Order: sequence, then structure tokens, then C-alpha cells
Amino acid sequence: MKKIAVFTSGGDSPGMNACIRAVVRTAIFNGVEVMGICRGYEGMIDGDFIEMNTSSVGNIIQRGGTILKSARSERFRTPEGRKKAFENLKANNIDGVIVIGGDGSFSGASVFNKEYHIPFVGCPGTIDNDLYGTDFTIGYDTAINTVMEAVDKIRDTADSHNRLFFIEVMGRDAGFIALRSGIAVGAEAILIPETKTHIEDLISILEKGRERKKSGSIIIVAEGDDAGGAFEVAKRVKERYNFYDTRTTVLGHIQRGGSPTAADRLLASRLGNKAVETLLSGDHNLMVGQSGKEIVFVPFEKATKHHQEVDRSLLDLAMILSS
Ligand code: F6P
Repeated sequence: MKKIAVFTSGGDSPGMNACIRAVVRTAIFNGVEVMGICRGYEGMIDGDFIEMNTSSVGNIIQRGGTILKSARSERFRTPEGRKKAFENLKANNIDGVIVIGGDGSFSGASVFNKEYHIPFVGCPGTIDNDLYGTDFTIGYDTAINTVMEAVDKIRDTADSHNRLFFIEVMGRDAGFIALRSGIAVGAEAILIPETKTHIEDLISILEKGRERKKSGSIIIVAEGDDAGGAFEVAKRVKERYNFYDTRTTVLGHIQRGGSPTAADRLLASRLGNKAVETLLSGDHNLMVGQSGKEIVFVPFEKATKHHQEVDRSLLDLAMILSS
């Protein structure tokens, strides 16, 4: 392998830059040329390729976002789009590709690989932590720390005014952000898509808090919860239980930005490095992840089709500690 390409795809996540840096520097260390593809699969289709060298990834390990930009590509879902992407990879003499992204990005790589046999290796880059086979994805730790800092601030004002806050965090299909950040902020309840939400149960938790004369309560709601987002849950609670003055906050894209934590920088550096070594060793069509202390290799189809289970013991812990 003489020349490889790297790109970031889907929703950006803090640590993607650290991963790009690791990919570029590992490739150069091994005598392999590297190109960056801008704007994910969109840039692959449009031929938006740039040369990369050691200094093009200098001073980025601490930066959120992605210097290569990112996109969600509808065109890559079409055979015409994928054909153009292949032609551009060939025109730039690319022998293998590193994709940093989430499940949509890996599904795209899997389909593309079957059609055009260009080797791809993936690094899990998403704040959602919803890929099977890796304990954590790049960006997740930063995102839950961002949530924690924001909710700590909200807790101050909730407490001062004896208010009940419903706080919506990201996670369309998965409650990993809600669950761990919810425990870290001592939320009174955590609502996630993986478990059925009963408004009656939520009300009895609030009742107990009221009996204990709790000043202010925090309910963390994952955006994809089955009962609806935070506004909908707040409305349904209010209809049945009007004791508290309530407020709703949607944290939104603040969760995707910011300087990555040390944990995310380390994860990104390890996985970016291993992804290149894997590609050079001839393996492909898989995601590089971390399980315990070990680096693991998970076929794209397994990483995207299997669901990472929520840790039931964390759900129990949240319930015990908030009671
Ligand atoms: O996949 C990451 C994520 O941040 C999800 O948690 C969220 O539902 C979604 O992206 C938001 O996507 P967009 O930035 O395209 O609105």
C-alpha cells in the first residue's frame, strides 16, 4: 500500500482531529502517503481531496470539530454517487481508506467495499457511543462531560427557585449519553429509548422528592425517548402533576463541540494508529475499537447491525442513588 486516504463522516465529534492526526502521522511513519478527503462521502463524490503531511495535522489534537469537515451524504446512497466516489479514489491512486464516523458511515463503507473492493478500516467517531463492539466511541466522554457541566449550572438555578427541570440530551436511538451523564449529575430520573417510560412512575419519583422537601429536581430525557422529547414529557407530567414550577432545556449541539477530554484524545490516538496498521497489514472492512484494555476488531456489519446493550447495572444504580 503506497497511498491511503482519511475522512470524517456523519455528525462530528470531539477527538476526530486527534484521530486524523494519528492516522496521518502513523502512515507517514510507515512510509505511506496520505490524502484527506473533505466533507465525508460528499467530498469523495466531488473529488475534494487534499494532500496531507506531518505539519498539516500540527496543533489540532486539542481542537473540537474536524479539520476535514463532515457531512451526511444522500448521494453516496445511490449507485451513481458511489461510482463517482470510486473514480475519484482511483484518479488519486488511493489504495485504502480510513473512515472516522458512526454507523451510517460504516454501513456506506461496507456497501462500497462489496461493489468496488477498495479496503476500508473504520474508527468509531460519534458522541452517541452506539456502536457495537467498542466500549467507547471517540467523542462520547467529552459529550457527557459537556452535559455534566451544563446540568451542574442548571442545578444551581433549579435549586434556588425550587424548580423541576426537564433537560434533553442527544441520542436519537440510544440513551448512552443520557444514562452516564444522568448518573454523573445525580438526576432524579433518566429517560432513555431502550426502556419504556411510564409517566406515572416519573410522577411517583417526583412525589417522593416533594415529601423529602427536595429543592429542585432534574429529569434527563434522551431526545429519542419513547415518551417524546423533553418538551413532550414535561407537558405530560404537568397535565397530571402540577406541583412544581417547571422549565425545559434542550442542550442540543453544544454536546458535539469543544476541546476533547484526555480520554477522547487517547482513544482517538490509539485507534487512529491501529487503523492504519490494520490497513497496512491487509485487513479491512472492519472497525477498530477498544474493549477493556485491548484493541479489538469488529466487522462493519456487526458494529452497525448489532446493538450495544445498555448496562442494566447502571440503570439500577441511577434508580437507587436518586431515591
Ligand atoms: O449522531 C450524532 C448526533 O449528534 C445524534 O446524537 C443526534 O441525534 C444527531 O447527530 C443530530 O444530527 P444533526 O447534527 O444532523 O442534526
